[in-house]
Amino acid sequence: MKVAFFDTKPYDIPGFDHFAAGTDLEIKYFETKLNEDTVSLAAGFDAVCVFVNDTVNARVVEKLYEGGVRVIALRCAGFNNVDTRACFGKIHVYRVPAYSPYAVAEHAMALLLTLNRKIHKAYNRTREFNFSLAGLSGFDLHGKTVGVIGTGKIGRIFADICRGFGMNILAYDKFPAANSGLNYVTLEELLAKADIISLHCPLTEETYHMINDDTVEQMKPGAVIINTSRGALIDTESLINGLRTQIIGGAGLDVYEEEGDLFYEDQSTHIVHDDNLVRLISMPNVIVTSHQAFLTQEALNNIAQTTVDNLVRFSKDQGNQDTEVCYRCERQDACRKQRHEKCF
Ligand code: NAI
Repeated sequence: MKVAFFDTKPYDIPGFDHFAAGTDLEIKYFETKLNEDTVSLAAGFDAVCVFVNDTVNARVVEKLYEGGVRVIALRCAGFNNVDTRACFGKIHVYRVPAYSPYAVAEHAMALLLTLNRKIHKAYNRTREFNFSLAGLSGFDLHGKTVGVIGTGKIGRIFADICRGFGMNILAYDKFPAANSGLNYVTLEELLAKADIISLHCPLTEETYHMINDDTVEQMKPGAVIINTSRGALIDTESLINGLRTQIIGGAGLDVYEEEGDLFYEDQSTHIVHDDNLVRLISMPNVIVTSHQAFLTQEALNNIAQTTVDNLVRFSKDQGNQDTEVCYRCERQDACRKQRHEKCF
């Protein structure tokens, strides 16, 4: 099985080469992202392996199909960048549902701790032997209320970590988890009461810009927002306004809605033309990381192992129901997997 691997980074190759050794996979690594301009590279391949910022829209799907591709293996959990409706009946889509929820939840807490205790500023100061403490005060997390939006694998681990800090946890989820012991409230109540809000739900039509002018206005003044999920959960303009008017006390962002052409690349010698991102990065109470929450050794190994397994099982005509996704997955009543049937 010939696999075209897009958006390759140096840290991808060792794990994939290791797990693909001895299988029938023949992987060709392309540095470029998959999009309408590059899709012709996939002609003649059986499969493509893609990541979060590859563009797999209807036109790309059509060209992939024409070129002989029958499987898309996402090496990530989210699949909002794939037009699964366009794929249905033609190209099977697999993902890695969980590779290390700990990695992402721990990064969310790292962002919160750094932002609150101003570790990034202290680090820069002490490197220049500036031992002043002016402007570095934070607040105790103990006793504060954290609102966790999306209580799947990552959200629940984040809630556990917060519990360890002695924080009160409020949860909001469209499908609350039974017997989780979490205190579920409405989104309105969470926004009104949380000192910290952490986003852990997927990006769907419904969750697109869930943090917007309206929801920012409902927040407790000074609330800190952490987003390790997907950038477009937040309307960036609303976030900037909220920070400017100090309704929002700080933001820790691992994802950004226009990250596609910027993140994962060294932009340090370029002028960045995205004024919203430049504005955010210039703010003293904002930390941006470059979609790195997943980046632990354990997660990289799990990603490579599961992705190779998805491809090998597909090539042996077995498929893997647990990791296949289609457009019906977002509607639990219509999802065939719930009835132990194949997506198609
Ligand atoms: P999951 O599928 O286990 O949990 C998602 C939760 O969100 C579920 O409980 C679901 O019911 C809930 N949800 C769905 N629609 C909702 C809505 N409209 N409102 C509120 N809640 C809703 O997913 P998991 O593994 O916890 O991952 C969460 C997200 O984290 C992924 O969708 C992905 O976007 C992001 N992620 C980010 C990474 C990074 O490196 N920054 C790495 C891995 C995942």
